[in-house]
Amino acid sequence: MLSLQSPAKINFFLRILRKRPDGYHDLASLFQAIDLCDTMHFDLAENDAFTCSDPSLPTDATNLVSKARDLFRKKTGIKHCFSINLHKKIPQHAGLGGGSSNAATTLWALNNLCGKKATDKQLSDWGAEIGSDIPFFLSQGTAYCTGRGEILRGLAPLENQTIWIVKPPIGLSTQRVYGQLDIKDSNPEYVAKQILELESILPEFALSQRTKDETIYFNDLEEPAFKLAPQLGALKQKLEGYGFSSVLMSGSGSSFFCVGGKDLLLNIPDCQTFKCQHINRDHSRWY
Ligand code: C5P
Repeated sequence: MLSLQSPAKINFFLRILRKRPDGYHDLASLFQAIDLCDTMHFDLAENDAFTCSDPSLPTDATNLVSKARDLFRKKTGIKHCFSINLHKKIPQHAGLGGGSSNAATTLWALNNLCGKKATDKQLSDWGAEIGSDIPFFLSQGTAYCTGRGEILRGLAPLENQTIWIVKPPIGLSTQRVYGQLDIKDSNPEYVAKQILELESILPEFALSQRTKDETIYFNDLEEPAFKLAPQLGALKQKLEGYGFSSVLMSGSGSSFFCVGGKDLLLNIPDCQTFKCQHINRDHSRWY
């Protein structure tokens, strides 16, 4: 039996660069894993079995965990069956990458149960076939991601800090939030300039002196998400009133992360709140 943590992520910055002919968007984003984790148990079994603590989550073939298991078998040719149990803590439809993290954890776990037949690079490439964020979770916890989100540059761990996650009762569909974007054709020069500017911000995160400077936190998906759910804009304003140096929506929402606060205890009516830290892993071990 293998028991593993499956962490959530936040995006310190997320810039949308252009809409692609395949309907996806090219982006540039700094991803960080955080210690808000689901727990997963894996074992070899006579037949496949997938159970989940949250009855609202379908455990059929549409779940990213089932997709990861089926893809792992197809790619490796391994015939084994697996029992998988998922204990959910990461909120769904929150922009925290919970489903992608579960899929990445599944790929890593099954590979370990089967004698490490695949390389990390292969697991990452296979993950990208079923979800843009999955390769990030196979990184070591801090990465600059481009393309659909699946092209990674792993970074050294950043200085740790307290991060409050606030999840309102409303959830958002990633596809619907991207669907609200109204991007005119971006010319290649604009995109190249944006990329250069973003890459120049990365060392500032590493130095950490400027992590309290709110201009290095931004998310181009906030505006489309607030169009879909105006109450999210109101929640952001309310959270800013607590004196954090930065409050930003994570990914496609609907959750927010708050950094640079005093040592306060955050309790927002109707919202789930989680006090978190960064989480990183060594190359050879899971989180
Ligand atoms: O890759 P994933 O299945 O997580 O993407 C979910 C949806 O989000 C896609 O169907 C697409 O509509 C949108 N998306 C996008 N550009 C990205 C990532 C996701 O348009 N880079």
